[in-house]
Parts: sequence; C-alpha cells; structure tokens
Amino acid sequence: MAKKAASINLSDSFEKIPVKIFTDQKDGSVFVAQQIAALIRGKQQRKEKCVLGLATGSTPKSLYDELVRMHRQEKLSFKNVITFNLDEYYPIDNNALQSYNRFMKSHLFDLVDINPKNIHIPNGEIKKEDIKEHCRQYEKMIKDAGGIDLQILGIGNNGHIGFNEPGSGIYSKTRLITLDNSTRIANAYEFANISQVPRLAITMGISTILQSKKIILMAWGSAKAPVLKKAVEDDDTEQVPASLLQNHDDVTFVVDETAAAELTRNKSPWLTGDCEWTPKMIKKAVVNMALKLKKPVLSLTNTDYNEYGLSDLLVEKGDAYEINLQVYYMLRDTITGWPAGKPNAVIPTHPERSSPYPKKVIIFSPHPDDDIISMGGTFQRLHDQGHEVHVGYQTSGNIAVTDEFVTRFLDFAVGFEEIAGIDTSKSGKILDNARQFLARKKSNQVDTPTIRAIKGLIRRGEAKATCRYVGIKEEHIHFQNLPFYETGTIEKKPMSEKDIKITMELLRKIKPQQVFCAGDFADPHGTHIVCFNVVLEALKRIRREAEGSPNYEWINDCWLWLYKGAWQEWNIEEIEMAIPMSPDQVLKKRFGIFIHQSQKDMVPFQGSDSREFWQRAEERNAATANLYADLGLTHYAAMEAFVRWHY
Ligand code: F6R
Repeated sequence: MAKKAASINLSDSFEKIPVKIFTDQKDGSVFVAQQIAALIRGKQQRKEKCVLGLATGSTPKSLYDELVRMHRQEKLSFKNVITFNLDEYYPIDNNALQSYNRFMKSHLFDLVDINPKNIHIPNGEIKKEDIKEHCRQYEKMIKDAGGIDLQILGIGNNGHIGFNEPGSGIYSKTRLITLDNSTRIANAYEFANISQVPRLAITMGISTILQSKKIILMAWGSAKAPVLKKAVEDDDTEQVPASLLQNHDDVTFVVDETAAAELTRNKSPWLTGDCEWTPKMIKKAVVNMALKLKKPVLSLTNTDYNEYGLSDLLVEKGDAYEINLQVYYMLRDTITGWPAGKPNAVIPTHPERSSPYPKKVIIFSPHPDDDIISMGGTFQRLHDQGHEVHVGYQTSGNIAVTDEFVTRFLDFAVGFEEIAGIDTSKSGKILDNARQFLARKKSNQVDTPTIRAIKGLIRRGEAKATCRYVGIKEEHIHFQNLPFYETGTIEKKPMSEKDIKITMELLRKIKPQQVFCAGDFADPHGTHIVCFNVVLEALKRIRREAEGSPNYEWINDCWLWLYKGAWQEWNIEEIEMAIPMSPDQVLKKRFGIFIHQSQKDMVPFQGSDSREFWQRAEERNAATANLYADLGLTHYAAMEAFVRWHY
C-alpha cells in the first residue's frame, strides 16, 4: 500500500484512480465476474487457494448472479476459494432477513460449491465484550490465509467502504463502528422502518482493505455519481473513505455510465481534451456555464466562455452571442403546453407531432401513484386537450401499505356487510385471521397472500379515485399486476416473459401513438427499472413482429416519452419537453396525490427522503421552472419534464 495509483497520467486526466465505465450494471458485473473467475482458475491450476474479500448490499447482487451462472454453466468451481466478508450489522441474528450472513448464503454461498469452512463473515450475534477479540481473530485469519488476493467493494453515498464511515483512519483495522445516520437512512429500505436499522456494525478497517493485493470497487446508478467523483478526482481524505483507495497501487473502479456522470470527462468533457461540439454538447456546456455563473444564457460574454474553459467552442463556432442564441432557442423549444402536440399547428421545432389529433396515449405507472406524482399536470392536460388517455398500473404496489391500514379497511368491510345484512361469516373469518397474523407478525415477515391482495386492493381503489379525479374513463384504467413484483418483499424477481406478454397485449389492444413511462434507473427498490425494461422490450418486440404487417405503421410511429419518478429529475440540459403548470394546476396535482391516502405520512420502506410524495413533486417541479427562469426563459410556477427515448 501507500503508493499512488501508478497507471494514471495526471496530465491528461482528473482521475486519480483508474475507472472502467460500462454501459450498464450487467456488463460491468460480467467484467468483474470474469476477473474473479480468471483468478480462481489460475490459482486452481497452480493448486493454490484463492482468497476473496466480498461485499454485500445492492451493488454486488448482479456480480453474484453472474458467478452463480458461471458455476452452473461454465463449471466454475469455488472449492479452492476462501472468503472474507467486509462487514455485518451489530447486533443482528445471523438468520435475520437483513443480515449479511444470510445475504451471502442466499446470493452466493448456498448456490455454489464453496466449502462452508472457508467462509468468514463478522458475527453479529456475539456478546459485546467478545467483539474486540473477534475482530483481532478476523485480522489474524486473513493473514493466516495469506492475505486477500482480490477485495470487492461497493461505495456508500457518503463515501464509506465496508462500513468505514467518514472519519475512519487509514490505519483502522477490523472493529465495531457506529453507523452514520446517513447510512442508516440509506439502508432503511431493507428494514420496515428506520428505527429497526441497527446502530452499529462490525467492519474490516481501511488498512485491512488496503492490504489486499488487488481491489475492485463497483458503483451503479446516478445516486453514486457525486461521491464517485469525490473519491476519484478530489484529494484523498478520511472524510470520503473511498478516496483513501488512491493510496493503493492496484485498484480499479468499475462503474456504469450513470455513476460516471459527474466525472469531469463526462460532465465537462471540454476540460479533458478534444470534444466534438454537437448541438447537445453545446447546450450542455453553455447551460452548465450559465448556471454556474448565475447568468441568463443571453447575457454570457466571450470572456465568460474563455474563463469557463470554453474557448475551443468560441474558436469553432464564432461569437458568444450566436452560440447563446442557438442554446436559448433550443431551451425555448422544449417548453410547450401541448404535451401531445398542438392540433392543426405547423411548428417544426415542437417536441411532439401535431397529428394525429386526438391521440391515443398510455401512461405506464410502475406503482399506483407514479402517474399523478410524476406527471400529474401533464396527465390532466392530455385529458383536457381531448386525447384518449389510458393508464397502465404496472404493479400492485402492495408492499407499501401499512398493516394498520389493512386492519382499518377490513373493519370497514365487515361493518359494511353487517349494515347491508350480508352474511359476515366468511369475511369475519378473514378479518380474524388477518388480525391474528398481524398481531404476531415479526419485523419484515412476508404477508400472507390474502393480506397482500387486500393491500393491493387498497392501492387499486386509490388509483381509480385519482383517475376519476382527472376524468379518465373506467375502461381506460388497466391494472397489470406484473408478476415480477409479487414477492411480498422488497426483493423483486427479474423481468419475465409473462411481464412482457401482458404489456404487449395491452399495447396491441390500445395502439397508442404516445407512451409515457418512468425512466428511473436508480429507484431504491429497482421496481421502476424493471417496469421500464418491460415496456421497452414489449415495444421492440411488437415492432419486430409487425414488420410487413398493417400494424407496422402504428408501432413505427409510436413515441416513447420518459418521466422521472419521485426520486430525482432529469438534468436541465437533457429535457426535451417541459410542460409548464400554473399555481392552480400545482394545487390540483397536490390534491390528486393526496388521494393516495395509504401513501401519506410515513410509509413502509420510505428510504432516505423523509418528505411526503406531494412535497417531493412540488419542490422538484418548482425547481425545474426556476432553472428555466435562471437561464433567462419565462418563469412558470412549476414544470414537468420529459425525455424522448428512441427505441
Ligand atoms: C456492504 C458494504 C457497504 C456497501 C455500500 C453500498 O458489505 O460494505 O460499503 O457496499 O453501503 O451499498 P449498496 O450496494 O447497497 O448501494
């Protein structure tokens, strides 16, 4: 250790650690799995043990899936593998759903041929007074095994590696540590609520990690982008523990494109060498400069361009004013009050086609409230402007309803039957069983199918009420109940043929000219990304299968627009259609979101944002409108934003 990463040429990079960027998590994971497999096999040939340091959390799941696949299909054996896991919550029952001991069994160890004696994971069950000795032994066992050949890491949003929270020293060893509040909040999605997240953890230290012969840190998704930039480009500091990896001479970060978005080579490529000045790149550069300098686009000067590192652009495109105008028009042309096109108008720069009018539109909503939360204003406009609007509720959303809510509805159902003089013997029994189950239910125990069905029904009722509020006809509401979601836990199944078929059928039935879909690639439970992939695959297959048939004309002219869910917004320069909202429309949307009563106040698995959904939506839509105003365009009360996806 203590050597600066050797392979980096600082004169042509801001990066102090080698970073390999892959299109997506899957490709990145396959690459890492291949590295691991090569190491294991090489050691097998030399009749040596292979010592792996392993991580848990959402990041390495696809890596473990690939290793399991290689074991099953390519005869990759783990017989010579010794493993040391980074960390474990404390205290925790080894069999608890959230324990890392259990995680490792279910994602890897139970699925390959590793010798259980070769597995080492810190023990969250031991007595507190024994922890120091346990940690000493852990370090000793790593040494006795010959040290870690390859350590796999994830990275926390606060820069932690293992559970080495900010402030962890470069010489720290395996020890008990207090979890940062931000880590407890970030990991709350695994637990029913934040109070159940343990306050302590046992973790390998920074020095333990740095002593590994080789290190690979993986990061997926835009949530990791800011911290990844700090770790890779800023000076190393104990405040961002992952940046301490700059002191290792064989470390690689393997990331996907969204996690790499904040690196200078992506964020401001003009600063890192030659850059192709496409209209998109010009927009990105100028918008970022204007926001940074707090100036409207049309007020930027030649001096601003030079001082912001954009002299190249000036040389290539001429005067600042010309470039300013080009970008100003690009921004202006994204703003429209006609989300499905303005009928009978000829506006070549309009984001949508003016014909046909009216259009058939389907809004796919991953959960029963994403439609109103993320695009409630646009939803209403589409309906008010006379389009035939359908909504496809993709999943039941049943895990996000509290038990208390179910009991309340069951009480109502039994009471209603009594009033109506209906025999309550059946429903009363369901109520009694549910009450008994809920009274004995352990933290995070999976609900019975009946309770799950009732939870789904509650959310269905709320979605229907929202559609009624917007004015959507009953027959245009479609509950898809996609099977991938129905596990009863936050862990979802991968997309299946059934999910795709259900979606293809709906699309073929409606034949929409416009499809809206959640384009979230970083939601905490992964539901939105699967929902997106299902729609994308369905559209692609329909088009493939329609070739040469009358359907081709329809599907080939069916546009797909993406909105972001409750978690984040598009970068301003990416937005291709921005729908303004008046203060009254903002209020109308707020009341539409309120209809989802089961989602008000604290909901299970809320994640790291404690704001209610209507607050998130309003703040976000106002922020988008403010950004447009800062850039010198008209100041609206709020705006919803969309990006077109070409499939
Ligand atoms: C897990 C671990 C942590 C995670 C980090 C990122 O063993 O040590 O450092 O790697 O918290 O977690 P995910 O992957 O869930 O984003």
